Amino acid sequence: GDDRRQQYTGIKMAETKKLLRALAGETQDVPPVWLMRQAGRYLPEYRATRAEAGDFLSLCYTSDLAAEVTLQPIRRYGFDAAILFADILLIPDALGADLWFVTGEGPRLSTTTTPADMAKLKGKDDIHDHLAPVYETVRILSRELPEETALIGFAGAPWTVATYMIAGRGTPDQGPAHKLMAEDRATFEALMERLTGATIEYLSKQVEAGAEVVKIFDSWAGSLKGEDFDRYALEPARRITQEMKARFPGLPVIAFPREAGEKYIGFAKATGADCVALDNSIDADWGAANVQADGCVQGNMNPGLMVTGGQALIDETRRIRAAFSGGPHIFNLGHGITPDADPENVTIMLEALRG
Ligand code: CP3
Repeated sequence: GDDRRQQYTGIKMAETKKLLRALAGETQDVPPVWLMRQAGRYLPEYRATRAEAGDFLSLCYTSDLAAEVTLQPIRRYGFDAAILFADILLIPDALGADLWFVTGEGPRLSTTTTPADMAKLKGKDDIHDHLAPVYETVRILSRELPEETALIGFAGAPWTVATYMIAGRGTPDQGPAHKLMAEDRATFEALMERLTGATIEYLSKQVEAGAEVVKIFDSWAGSLKGEDFDRYALEPARRITQEMKARFPGLPVIAFPREAGEKYIGFAKATGADCVALDNSIDADWGAANVQADGCVQGNMNPGLMVTGGQALIDETRRIRAAFSGGPHIFNLGHGITPDADPENVTIMLEALRG
């Protein structure tokens, strides 16, 4: 109601922040730029703060350190947006699915595959005590960020988060989630429903704490085909977007249905998202013609170029900027920057983009 509207100030800032202007549909000569995983292991200052925190999850749940690593790439590069430092798997952790990270391997969770497992999970509204440190990180950031820098909050999309909860870990082909969908659709859909509800509550608290944009990461959307894509990628993104916009009028939403391919066409219109993030399997000219026709797009340079650099990085930065120059665009990679990226290559990219 009124409380929320008073706390949400993003709309009023729209004129001053390049990222919010792109999300409002403005075509800019030099697009705003940020990078997925911009706070990460490729930066020595990130590795130092992570060591201070002890491990990755402690870093996520220690508000002052999470805020510090969020700010590090802003100080170093002056990106147009900061993204809250957290992880998409904090929601399952808050729901009670004991999350831990195995160094060098990735996340592990207790599996959720049966009605009994579902019964053990907390309700969608019972996550906030656990996630309070994340909301505190957002509050610190909204005080400390430069006034021209937009603050992006985020969550994983229900399907992507469900793939980790069902398998108990990352999987190359999301096989266990597809198997549960085929063999016990009721349990699969109950989990999707719980995640959709919890995601809306989680994102709402982020916005109340000061996030000006929210992004929904559906990293594994590409393994959903045909009707499954419409039911389990598009429809949850639509529900989350519509409910967030109902609660926070004017709130911009970025959707990232990674590797959606042809399903990128019409995704923004069907969900109400203000911007669709393109992965790097999409040809930029194709994306401009078929996706940017409906509004702002984000992307989509190959993250590998941040490792290899050279003239190819400069040429590709200029090619992508030119391909999307006819409409609203947020320059980014097509997926997260990797730990082996050279921090100097980010500077080279920014000079090619802005210079
Ligand atoms: O983009 C940012 O800088 C914001 C923070 C952020 C992280 N993860 C920090 C992180 C965001 C937005 C994410 C999203 C995320 N997390 C996704 C969706 C985006 C994508 O990459 O597809 C997914 C699938 C996850 C789950 C996850 N988190 C995995 C599979 C892993 C292990 C793989 C790896 O890169 O180590 C993580 C860990 C993780 N999340 C790290 C960071 C910086 C590395 C942790 C470390 O410091 O060791």
